[in-house]
Amino acid sequence: GDPRLQAISDSIRVVPDFPKKGIMFQDITTLLLDHKAFKHTVDIFVDRYRDMGISVVAGVEARGFMFGPPIALAIGAKFIPLRKPGKLPGQVISESYELEYGTDCLEMHVGAVQPGERALVIDDLVATGGTLSAAIRLLERVGAEVVECACVIGLREVKGQRRLNGKPLYILVEPREIDNCC
Ligand code: PRP
Ligand code: MG
Repeated sequence: GDPRLQAISDSIRVVPDFPKKGIMFQDITTLLLDHKAFKHTVDIFVDRYRDMGISVVAGVEARGFMFGPPIALAIGAKFIPLRKPGKLPGQVISESYELEYGTDCLEMHVGAVQPGERALVIDDLVATGGTLSAAIRLLERVGAEVVECACVIGLREVKGQRRLNGKPLYILVEPREIDNCC
């Protein structure tokens, strides 16, 4: 395999019982502190997407904002933020998605993407896939073609992939299960 993937995985801090008991939180702020791991992460995505005719990279608030912009700049695409409700000042469209308790929502500026544009969706992590499925729906509502969703962390075999409406999901590393934070 690619030795860069081990360096990326090693840079992610796993914090047990955050934000609540039973969750092994995958903290990518330590990846961002590690220049090599951050560079490897961006490089792998850029190598994969540079010649795919992608004109728009959509990042999911908040942690998708940390990886989307460097990828967009390197592949010559624009960046659009998919934001939590009430943050975007222009005209928006909204898509809600289910959480463990209740629902949340993502919004996108109308006019940020034109029909027929080829889009890449970026986030740090996929769990249930609910967040990515809302991102896909937003882009498809304005006539964009979602080429792929890409995350740093996710289970390769996961329920979430079935919720992505057949869109391919590209993942770099699996979640770490060992506490390495203390
Ligand atoms: C986390 C993570 C993904 C999402 C994945 O974001 O960054 O965006 O959950 O979960 P899912 O696949 O089950 O939808 P969160 O909404 O906690 O907030 P943040 O990115 O703003 O920190
Ligand atoms: Mg998130």
